[in-house]
Formats: sequence, structure tokens, C-alpha cells
Amino acid sequence: MDKIRIIGGGPLNGEIEISGAKNAALPLMAASLLTDQPLQFDRVPALRDVSSLIKILEELGVACAYDSQQKTLKLHAAKLSGCVAPYDLVRKMRASILVLGPLVARHGEAKVSLPGGCAIGTRPVDMHIDALRELGAEIDLAEGYIYARAPQGLTGAEIHFPKSSVGATENIMMAATLARGTTVLHNAAREPEIVDLGSCLVKMGAEIKGLGTDRITIRGKSFLRGTAHAVITDRIEAGTFAIAGAMTGGTLTLKNAELDHLGALIDPLYKAGVDLAEVPGGVTVRRVNEALRGIDIMTEPYPGFPTDLQAQMMSMLTVATGAGMVTETIFENRFMHVPELIRMGADITVHGSSALVRGVKKLKGADVMATDLRASVSLVLAGLVAEGATHVHRIYHLERGYENIVGKLNGVGAKLEKLKDDSEG
Ligand code: UD1
Repeated sequence: MDKIRIIGGGPLNGEIEISGAKNAALPLMAASLLTDQPLQFDRVPALRDVSSLIKILEELGVACAYDSQQKTLKLHAAKLSGCVAPYDLVRKMRASILVLGPLVARHGEAKVSLPGGCAIGTRPVDMHIDALRELGAEIDLAEGYIYARAPQGLTGAEIHFPKSSVGATENIMMAATLARGTTVLHNAAREPEIVDLGSCLVKMGAEIKGLGTDRITIRGKSFLRGTAHAVITDRIEAGTFAIAGAMTGGTLTLKNAELDHLGALIDPLYKAGVDLAEVPGGVTVRRVNEALRGIDIMTEPYPGFPTDLQAQMMSMLTVATGAGMVTETIFENRFMHVPELIRMGADITVHGSSALVRGVKKLKGADVMATDLRASVSLVLAGLVAEGATHVHRIYHLERGYENIVGKLNGVGAKLEKLKDDSEG
């Protein structure tokens, strides 16, 4: 396995191009199962999660052609050759569950392994399963697999999600596009990635109303057609680099980033002494105060503060003046970065789902590792401002979600290097 060495140093200045959003690309790819016509996606990031889902789609009989230079992905599910998403492929990424709804809707049958993915809490899939049952699918759980059957097709229904779930909203929205009659999703999630998926489904011929609200109505069709679609840019990647700019000082321009999607970051960063502003073609981030100030944040479903930026924000607070409180309400057990940040000299106390972060003058480079994607990147951010060298081990997770992070950060003045990790077998 590889590791990344970071030599902490001065401010980052310049331009970083933001990639297509991983969390938009994955559901869009799953949508290819809904039609026998070809789909073409532009701005698909070259990430491990994307290749993992390509493997699953290929297993199901989808022809996949990815051009990692052009970032285009062509998918054609002319005829499905199977309906099994096996454990070996699914365990690498929780988002694999997104093939369940489209498969059962088009194929009448699906067998999908219960997912693995990031080790953040138990992360059940009960809402996906319950909602598919309400659409008329028969579902059994056995030997770690979800077996879903709807030989006569799915039927529209009123679905009330008990809580806001990005994945369940996407899965059921896709399934409902091929169901008989109308489906209404109540308490639907509102994330921009869901709007992106919905817009593409509409181009494919689906009839969907209420995207971006918590009530989505889908009128089922007997078939969908192919289309071309460009994936939205990654608000979490943009937010991560915005926080990197805030921590290191200097001025960063995040090319292609959409300020609209970063709304929840503007106010906390402003209170911390950092300005986030729209410029033609992107967003700039600039420290307005000499020192960062401690602030409180609480994660919430969109448009609240994203859980996927919680670890990065905590990293920033470790070097702010005064204290800040970070409260995680979406996932239990999403503080795996805390012990590693403490190894770098951070002062953090966790009480249940909140962490009190008292800023320190300086972090110190150390050997660290994390078992989830966002926790890993928070350690990279800490390394950017730490004294000396930080080695982030097990970068497997980082590569699931950040395209060319070493090149992008080095391009604005950071000192990162990817090395072979001899400390691991
Ligand atoms: C998606 C994102 C992930 C992000 C998360 C929350 C993708 C590929 N991943 O994950 O990066 O951190 O949204 O913004 O888009 N839950 C249940 N039962 C279910 C489904 C979810 O209890 O059937 C719970 C989860 O445990 C969690 C909450 O609902 O507490 C929200 O999770 P959800 O929005 O579903 O997250 P994902 O779609 O898995």
C-alpha cells in the first residue's frame, strides 16, 4: 500500500480545478441499468469508487468504456446478463446498493450483497429495502444478500422516509421511474447530487417533479432512453480545498466550484475569519484575519453543514484561536480522525456525538492513518500546517474519493509526495 508524505509549510496560492462529484457520478452510473440505450457521462472523476462501480456494472452485463483523460464514461446496458452484485465487489463501496432499485425495476430481479464501505457507524439499508417493498418488490435477506423480486414490475406508492437519506432517495427515485403509476417520496433528501441524478433521469424521459425539495413526485414510464450528461462538480472536494486554503492562509481559486452548493460553509468560515466568494468560473477562498477563530458546527442533511466536511473542519479548528464545538448528527462513530489528530498535537475532547476542539499554536508532523475517506483527508489538511513531516498511511480510502490530490495540492505550493509504504505488509 502507498502512503503520502506531507511537509508542512506556508500558504497555498493559485488555482485548483475541482473534479466531477463522486457522489453524483455513482448514482448516475447506476441509472444506466434503467435503459437499453447508451448513456454518456462527462466529467466523471478517475477514482477508485468509480472503477469499483464499473466492475459491478460489467458483472451485470453493462458495456462500460471510461476515458480517464477526457473523463468521459460510456455505459450501455443493452441486455443485462445477470442480476447479482457479488460481495467481493460490493464490500468495497457502500454506494453499490444503488444498483438494487434500477435492477429490480428493469430486470424484475436483483441479488445484491449487503454493502460495506467506510467504517462509519452501522449504516443500515433498511429504508432502501422498506421503500422497495412498498413499491411491490418481494425482498428476502439471506447469507448477507438482499434478494429482491418484482416479476410483474413495480407499482407507484406514497413513501414516507423516516429520516432523510441520500442513497435511499436516489435508489427509490430511480426504481420509481419504471414503476406503474405515480410515486411520491416524502421526507426526500435534497442534496445537489440528487437534483443532478433527477435532471439526468428527466433527460432520459422520466417525469419527475419537486427535485431539490423534500417531496419528489415521479410518474412511471414503460421505458427510458439514452442521453448525455455532465456530472456536477464536487462540492465536498471544493469544500475540502476551501478549508485547506483557510488553514494555510493565501488565496485559492477553486475552478468550477459552485458557491450555491457550498452555502453551509460560507457562514462558519466567515465567522472563523475566512472569506468565500464567487468569481467568474469558480470560487475564491481567502483568509481575512491574521489568525483563525474557533467556531461551532453541527452536521445536518443538505442544506445544513455536510457530514462529509466535518473531519476537515475539525482539522481546521485544531489550529484556530480559542475553542470550537463539532457535533455530528448524521453518522455515529464518525470521529475516527480524532485520535490521529491528537497524535499530531491537537487538543480534542469527545463527549458522545460532540467534540470540543481547543486550538493549539502548532501541530506536529506524525505517522497517522484513517479508515474512512474524509477522516483521511482531514489528516492531509493537518499535515499541510504541521511542523515537519506527516506520513498519512493507508491512502486507499483517500483514493476512493479524491482525484489526484497530491498533484492538485502541489500545484498550489504544498509539498506532498506519494511513497511506497514499507511499514505495512
Ligand atoms: C451519502 C453519501 C455520503 C454522505 C451521506 C450523508 C454517496 C455515495 N454517499 O451516503 O458521502 O456522507 O450521504 O450526506 O452519496 N440510514 C438508515 N437507513 C437507511 C439508509 C440510511 O438508517 O436505509 C441512515 C444512515 O445510517 C445515516 C443517515 O441515514 O445515519 C443518512 O445516511 P444516507 O443519507 O443514506 O447516506 P448515504 O446515502 O449512505
